[in-house]
Amino acid sequence: MESYLPEPYKIKMVEPIQLKTKAEREMAIEKAGYNPFLLRSEDVYIDLLTDSGTGAMSDRQWAGIMLGDESYAGSRNFYHLEETVQQLTGYHYVLPAHQGRGAEQVLFPLLIEKEGQYVLGNMHFDTTKAHIEMNKARPVNLVISEAYETAVDHPFKGNFDIARLKEFISTKGKEEIAFIINTITCNSAGGQPVSMENIREVYEVGKQYGIPVFFDAARFAENAYFIKQREKGYEDKEISEIIQEMFSYGDGLTMSAKKDGLVNIGGLLAIKDDFELFEKCRSMVVPMEGFPTYGGLAGRDLEALAIGLKEVVQYDYLHHRINQVRLLGELLKEGGVPVQEPIGGHAVFVDCAKFLPDLPKNHFPAHALAVALYLESGIRSVEIGSLLYGRDVDTGEDGLSELELLRLTIPRRTYTDNHIRYIADSLIQLYQKRSEIKGVEFSYEPKILRHFTAKFQFARVPSQ
Ligand code: F0G
Repeated sequence: MESYLPEPYKIKMVEPIQLKTKAEREMAIEKAGYNPFLLRSEDVYIDLLTDSGTGAMSDRQWAGIMLGDESYAGSRNFYHLEETVQQLTGYHYVLPAHQGRGAEQVLFPLLIEKEGQYVLGNMHFDTTKAHIEMNKARPVNLVISEAYETAVDHPFKGNFDIARLKEFISTKGKEEIAFIINTITCNSAGGQPVSMENIREVYEVGKQYGIPVFFDAARFAENAYFIKQREKGYEDKEISEIIQEMFSYGDGLTMSAKKDGLVNIGGLLAIKDDFELFEKCRSMVVPMEGFPTYGGLAGRDLEALAIGLKEVVQYDYLHHRINQVRLLGELLKEGGVPVQEPIGGHAVFVDCAKFLPDLPKNHFPAHALAVALYLESGIRSVEIGSLLYGRDVDTGEDGLSELELLRLTIPRRTYTDNHIRYIADSLIQLYQKRSEIKGVEFSYEPKILRHFTAKFQFARVPSQ
């Protein structure tokens, strides 16, 4: 392993956590219908459900909170944020939103011109997929095939398959494509980065056909770090330079600021130079999110975000962040646990098709492992597989996801490397007794976004 450096911060305030007893955990998960989303957080010891809004703010951000200007219009914190985003991205027009999906709900209907149009992504996150479908368009994933092979090592598994992208557009016709969305890093493929070369090529394809290219930029700084680490010619570049170049290959972005914005709530919509589109977005923001200088956020939140966006590009921060996630991945690999390789930016993704090869897809192996991990050690994790993927809208068919992953998502600046070791030990112990892990089946299945509220029981039919 590369030279080890501990956390680049010291702890000024603590939030106690407690491991509940085995009997308490059994009761809690039963009450939650065997769905970790429905657990009370007090019943969770280490929470790896998401890296979204779960990070720790710095002392400077908390100081910024006290500088909140809570004017309805024209808050000084908005101008600070606007200037920060302009410098960071090179995009001129900036609108705050309450979170990433707030920005999506404003922008997407303005880009989708007619029913049945396609939106092409490397791999859509579930809210972008939902917003596209709600506007009667069709999301298509065009990530490279290596992304689906967890044991295959590839430095940029989030890349678009450029040949398929071109072929799709030329077969369907450019007027059938509403826009292209480049998710950096590619969350659903395992927090995998997209290379600068690929980002540039995607933009060139967009330009060639006159199709707008947007970023889903939730983890833009983590993506930039991987480019610096892995892509020739970028070793000596500053993170901020890499970020500017990345965004130069796009027409705008939506961003969930709850990740690389280093805040607990917030989002952004930014547009490079298309004033007409910006004007339309600005009009839509008012009824949906709020007046354009606050967009659903308090002045203090805008200030914390402006400061967070400056902290996240610091090399020492990113270096520890990415390596803490990698530490978990390396420990798991040493213990024999199959994971998506190379290790992603915000999470370790366990390959449950390999961890629990005897469980069929409709017994949700990754979800079954999430339940087992909670029972074993109080750790909450999340399924990214057939349960999340849902049924085909036309046929109702289930089990269509190409990957069955368990995501161990690491919040930013929240847990220490000691927590990481506990997580690794717990999962390795489970791996050693994996034949005892039981599959689950629905006792209640909601119609939309089923993973959030579904309830389960242990599968009655022996799965072997
Ligand atoms: N895009 C990506 C790539 C995301 O990962 C998320 C959220 C969103 C958009 C939506 O942003 O939550 O601020 O509205 N991802 C979280 C997760 C929830 O757990 O991966 P939001």
